[in-house]
Formats: sequence, C-alpha cells, structure tokens
Amino acid sequence: MTTPLRLVRRDDRSPLAVVAERKATRTPLIAGTDEALIPLGAADVTDAYVVGMRDAEVTRFMYGVRKTPQTRETVSAYVRLNHDDPASLLFGIYTAGTLRGTIRLHAIEPGEGSCHLGICIFDRSCWGGGLAGRCLAAATRFAIEDAGIARIIAGVDVENAVSHRLFAGAGFRTDPSWRYALDGRPTDLWVFDARRAS
Ligand SMILES: CC(C)(COP(=O)(O)OP(=O)(O)OC[C@H]1O[C@@H](n2cnc3c(N)ncnc32)[C@H](O)[C@@H]1OP(=O)(O)O)[C@@H](O)C(=O)NCCC(=O)NCCS
Repeated sequence: MTTPLRLVRRDDRSPLAVVAERKATRTPLIAGTDEALIPLGAADVTDAYVVGMRDAEVTRFMYGVRKTPQTRETVSAYVRLNHDDPASLLFGIYTAGTLRGTIRLHAIEPGEGSCHLGICIFDRSCWGGGLAGRCLAAATRFAIEDAGIARIIAGVDVENAVSHRLFAGAGFRTDPSWRYALDGRPTDLWVFDARRAS
C-alpha cells in the first residue's frame, strides 16, 4: 500500500534552476566570520590559484589535475567549463576577500537526485584551521536545503586521512566495501555520501 503523504519542498524549483540563479547573482554562502563561498568565473582566477594547482602536495590526490601541466589557461578553462555547465557549480573559497580554494558541486541531477562534490584549499597556509569543515558544511546545507538535492557523493582516496576526517565530521558516511570504478576498474576511492533526512 502506498502512502498519500509525500515530502515536498516549499520552493519546488529544480536544483538546476537554483544553481543557475546562484551563478547569475553570485550571492555568497557564508561559511564563517569573513569566510564566504562565491560562484567563480574565469576572471576570478588568481596567480595563487595557478601556483596551487602546480603544488604536488596540494594535488597529491587530485588525479585529473596532475595529468596535465597546469597553467593560467588550463585553470581558466576549467573554471569556464564549470561556469558554462548547468549541472556544475564551482564556488571560490574566500577568506578576508582572498581566494584560497574551491568547492565544486557537479553532475547535479535535474530532479530530487544526487550530485558529486569536491573540495580543494590550494593555499596551504589555510590548512588545519577548520576552514574546509566550515565550507563543506555551508555547501552541503546549500545543496540539500536550498537546491533540494537528495544525496551528495564524494570520492575520497583511501590514503587521504585528512579528508576522511573532514567528510566524517560533516556528517558524510562511507562503506569501505564500495569503491568508485573508472573505465570498469575499481579505483582507490572510497565513496562518502550525505543524504537529505526524509
Ligand atoms: C582536504 C583539505 C580540503 C582539508 O582542509 P583543511 O582546511 O585543512 O581541513 P580542516 O582544518 O577543516 O580539517 C578537517 C579535519 O581534518 C583534520 N585534520 C586537519 N589537518 C590534519 C592533519 N594534518 N592530520 C590529521 N588530521 C587533520 C582536522 O582535525 C579535521 O578533523 P576534526 O573535525 O575531526 O578535527 C585540504 O587539506 C586540501 O585542500 N587538500 C588538497 C586537496 C584534497 O586532497 N582535497 C580532498 C579531495 S577528497
């Protein structure tokens, strides 16, 4: 027997409409005092962002980035690609008005489905102070409460212990018996996910 009651959001716009509006208005998400997430455009790319994408310690677990030598052109092309893709939302992580990293929602489904999330703080002087935790909490809240996304998925390398703590601290769960597969082969990425309470 099916129940006639169903959970609906007050604002029942598609996640893609919410994302398009956020990109158009560039309204910041507040992560902490003087910390904000702002949708990025190619004009926002800084020298520090390019330098960070060339830093082997920053990119240790970022396999896509490591495949190509990073230049201002490749970084700007990545930002533009996400800006132009209606199913992606690339936020810049700003502290005191300076770009320190990015957090990306991507493969966003049009209905009450899922999206994927990735985070990188390329400015290593900002590591270890809880910035990523606050930004992840703000982005997760936005995805679930504002955009109506039901499940957020993140692939985290089995050896990336800091990220394990980061995602676990933000309420994500993992089942180590599952792995991401690439081209049909299992990778070393654990699947973490956060789900909207039903
Ligand atoms: C992963 C990353 C975003 C973490 O950023 P951060 O601002 O240092 O993270 P936080 O300070 O919010 O710390 C997150 C958790 O990791 C823990 N942590 C931070 N540095 C740590 C370290 N060196 N060793 C062990 N744990 C550490 C924190 O204590 C915190 O856990 P807690 O809430 O249980 O205390 C950052 O290191 C980064 O950008 N790395 C490169 C890109 C990357 O690997 N991205 C993740 C791909 S899934």
